[in-house]
Amino acid sequence: MSEQVQKWNGVETELIDIRQFKFPIDDAGESIKDAQFSAICQRADGFIIVVPEYNHSFPGILKHVLDTNFKEYIHKAVGICGVSTGPFGGARVIQSLLPVMRELGLVTTFYDLNFGGVNNLFGDSGKLLDEQTYIRRFERFMKELVWMSTVLRYGRLEVCIDENNQVAAINHHVNKPCPEKAARMGTKEADTVMEVSSAATGMDIKIVND
Ligand SMILES: Cc1cc2nc3c(=O)[nH]c(=O)nc-3n(C[C@H](O)[C@H](O)[C@H](O)COP(=O)(O)O)c2cc1C
Repeated sequence: MSEQVQKWNGVETELIDIRQFKFPIDDAGESIKDAQFSAICQRADGFIIVVPEYNHSFPGILKHVLDTNFKEYIHKAVGICGVSTGPFGGARVIQSLLPVMRELGLVTTFYDLNFGGVNNLFGDSGKLLDEQTYIRRFERFMKELVWMSTVLRYGRLEVCIDENNQVAAINHHVNKPCPEKAARMGTKEADTVMEVSSAATGMDIKIVND
């Protein structure tokens, strides 16, 4: 998976094996942040979570690790790959992760990847046996994830909700210093984004001058 993502044009990727981090288990949440893990999450515009199905849900250790960040995830894209020994390709773990993703502020893709019957999917060398099928599915998955990551990055950097609107209280991006935004202020592109966002939300959305 990581190898395939690395080949994707314009994408810089970092593989995180959550086992490499030793989070304490006598507490939870942001109070047990790992600086390195948080910095990786902060840098990322999008995430791919490859997750095995454990008793029709997600492994507790994944949730424990994800719970250590919050602002690092907000309004970033996430695509989920479910893995299971059973035939459903981790469909159940993906479904059970969706509300967690939302509460963390992540935005899920429409298209997932499913690796069912995982014990028979890979050869002795660890290579996928039916590579063609999975690469075709992977490309579809990546196209959407990259598109969503790009759109959300643009939104995080350049589209603010009016600070006078009550929604602003939960808007993470209000008054955010943004050189990219300043560089584009007044361009047709920025105006169009504002118009479309205002029309979609029914709110007076504008770029906030820092
Ligand atoms: C505690 C536990 C629960 C599991 N529950 C399921 C399950 O509900 N459905 C399923 O298809 N596979 C289940 N499996 C198999 C895993 O999905 C399979 O081993 C996994 O995809 C490979 O990841 P692993 O290296 O973490 O075991 C379970 C495995 C473990 C260890």
